[in-house]
Amino acid sequence: MREPSAGDGAVERRAERVEGASPAWDALRATMEDGVEEQGSALEELRAEVEALEAQNRALVRTHQRTDAWARRYQELFELAPDGYLVTDPRGVIREVNLAVSALLDVPVTNLAGKPFVVYLAKAHRARFYTFLARVRDTSAALIWDLELQPRRGAICPVTATLAPARGARGEVVGVRWLLRDATARKRMEAALRESEARLSGIISSAMDAIISVDAAERVLLFNPAAERMFRCAAADAVGQSLDRFIPGFLAESGLAEGHGVVGGPMRLLGTWGLRASGDRFPLEASLSRTDLDGEKLWTIIVRDVTERARAELMVRQSRRALETSRGELRALTGLLLTAYEDERRRVSQELHDDVSQRLAAVAVELESLQRGPSRSARSLSAPLGKVHDQVAQLADDVHRLAYALHPRMLDDLGLALALETYLRDLAKRPGVSARMRQRALRSSIPRDHALCLYRVAQEALRNVTRHAGAARVTVTLAGVGGGIALCVKDTGNGFDPAAKGEPRRGLGLVSMEERVRLIDGRLVVRSRPGGGTHVHAWAPLPSGPEDVP
Ligand SMILES: Nc1ncnc2c1ncn2[C@@H]1O[C@H](COP(=O)(O)OP(=O)(O)O)[C@@H](O)[C@H]1O
Ligand SMILES: [Mg+2]
Repeated sequence: MREPSAGDGAVERRAERVEGASPAWDALRATMEDGVEEQGSALEELRAEVEALEAQNRALVRTHQRTDAWARRYQELFELAPDGYLVTDPRGVIREVNLAVSALLDVPVTNLAGKPFVVYLAKAHRARFYTFLARVRDTSAALIWDLELQPRRGAICPVTATLAPARGARGEVVGVRWLLRDATARKRMEAALRESEARLSGIISSAMDAIISVDAAERVLLFNPAAERMFRCAAADAVGQSLDRFIPGFLAESGLAEGHGVVGGPMRLLGTWGLRASGDRFPLEASLSRTDLDGEKLWTIIVRDVTERARAELMVRQSRRALETSRGELRALTGLLLTAYEDERRRVSQELHDDVSQRLAAVAVELESLQRGPSRSARSLSAPLGKVHDQVAQLADDVHRLAYALHPRMLDDLGLALALETYLRDLAKRPGVSARMRQRALRSSIPRDHALCLYRVAQEALRNVTRHAGAARVTVTLAGVGGGIALCVKDTGNGFDPAAKGEPRRGLGLVSMEERVRLIDGRLVVRSRPGGGTHVHAWAPLPSGPEDVP
């Protein structure tokens, strides 16, 4: 507050002097006293005003300081912000830029001020610059614009710009504020995402296996082309349907219905069935994996149709069983063959030892007794020598028969038809068997292998007649048929059931006939029924230019 000045004291003293002078002075003095009083209160008011003014002044200085601090802080923020900030006038001329913009454009901040911003845009975006400036003037909100900047050096840089108008006191547009955010990384990520999505969808649509995705309610979300082919159902019809319609009970079986499930690693499920739109069932193999997407559970099922594999496995199992059976049969046959071989040797050995050698010994004893006995006349020797002769002749016959049984030499000497005729003649001598031979259209020469094969087949068939057919008539027919030679041994005996199974195989006859014929690429058919006689048909192809039997 201001101190009272020296001037104030002088006025008072003059007033005291005027006071005692005259009545006029009294009036004057009264007036003057009023004036002084008035002046005093005015001074008081002035003093209060000054005080208030000074207080306001101090507050103003503080506010100013604060505003300055804020402005500095904002300036720093503006300049050092990681995103680009830019202010242009309404026509797009740069007024202010921050360091981030300078870095994006590779131009110093000082060089940017005063330049039209449009020159720093990639050419393709320049035309739209003025459209955006016009639009931002008419809007109160911010505009978003994906554009590309053309830095002074280097490649074009994609940015996302946010534009907002700066308005004056009366709401007029005084400038445009730009926020520029570098979108290179985002664009790269978007491109990578698009690429990986394209790759994934390529994989899904070209996969050989069916791929099905279902949501938590087991509704189909994705059904790839392989699934369309496998289930014979278009994706458009499949999407939205329940998975049960394609793989009944699948999720229930895999425990997903109860809310369990696999997260991460897939789970393989075997032995499940799929259902085609036609209603056909097929075996499948599936692997299942769960993904959680934004809190939603998603199941992806990869399905493989294993019909072909199941069929192939079945065939392998069947062939293995057939192989096992054949092996068993082969073992049994080998056993029989060995036994037959040993039996035959024993029979020949027995016949040679018990019969031929005994009888030879008897002849030797007879001749010795004749030699040792008293000398006799030729006439008296005639009878005993005749007996020895008969014995020796009989022996020769028997040895011949024995040798013939081992290998029919007659076949080499006479040929197949005559050898068979001879065999039949011998057979017909047996009681209860009547046998005859017929032949027609026979080739003059038959290869040795073929002749031996058919001879052995006839021999075995005829042996069966004598052993199993009972009293019977036998007819053997040999005929040229269809480029080959056919043998038929027909009897009117007991017959049997060739298809009868269950009883263990007793002999090797029929099997050896079959094997012999098969070895020369021929065929053998045995027709018989109990009480209806037996027909054995063998046919052998005759090769051209064979090694012939004369
Ligand atoms: N001509 C036939 N008449 C009646 N039964 C026959 C005749 N041929 C074969 N069989 C029957 O077929 C069976 C098998 O014959 P085969 O294989 O030659 O063996 P094996 O003669 O050693 O018994 C004989 O045991 C017999 O029951
Ligand atoms: Mg037999």
